[in-house]
Amino acid sequence: MEARRLNDCPDWRYLLVEFYEMYRRGRAGGSAKIRAHQRVVREAVSKVMADNPVVQPQPREDKPVTAHLKRALDQGRRETTQSMIRAIESVQDDLSWLYGYEKVPRGLSQKFAYAEFVGPQGPVVSDRVILGLVLFAPKCTYPAHSHDGLTESYFTLSGAVSENDDGVFAPGSMIFNPPGRMHRLTTGDNEPTLLAYAWHGAHDKLVAQKMVFTRRKKEQP
Ligand SMILES: [Fe+2]
Repeated sequence: MEARRLNDCPDWRYLLVEFYEMYRRGRAGGSAKIRAHQRVVREAVSKVMADNPVVQPQPREDKPVTAHLKRALDQGRRETTQSMIRAIESVQDDLSWLYGYEKVPRGLSQKFAYAEFVGPQGPVVSDRVILGLVLFAPKCTYPAHSHDGLTESYFTLSGAVSENDDGVFAPGSMIFNPPGRMHRLTTGDNEPTLLAYAWHGAHDKLVAQKMVFTRRKKEQP
């Protein structure tokens, strides 16, 4: 059987259209670096659509946190991110929720998972950009980590998240992490948090990316 391609899978294609729109409409707050990142992600998404790549759905997989997905989508439907939420609902039965870490801290395994939309492993197979979702249960702390050679943005779709205790990001706002920036996330007390993310960087870094937490170093005297 011939492989299915993006143009044969309208729900996945509309999801990419929503990603493109999110990075077009999203505000940059006067930051030239953020504006440039948004443009780079848009260009990558356009190229993925023009490539008409293979769509290879990953086996459906749930994690304990996916019990919070319905609430996260319900809450997100009231926000400016609502058309992205609807596009996600159209593919939600095909999502593969993963941990990505060989060892997941015990508390975190109940409260976190991610699902990819676009990337070298699919479901939309491309090495131009990695796009996906991260879901957190209420009161989750996602330990400090950084991404070697990759620029990352998290777009809040539902709930509220803080990064490095530096501020609160509500639906419609974006967190920007240049390569190597250490970041630790915490989520609100009562509602789940759903983030869309984009990773962009040199081809070899994108293909070889591993998710690793940074061990806490002993305090220096
Ligand atoms: Fe990150």
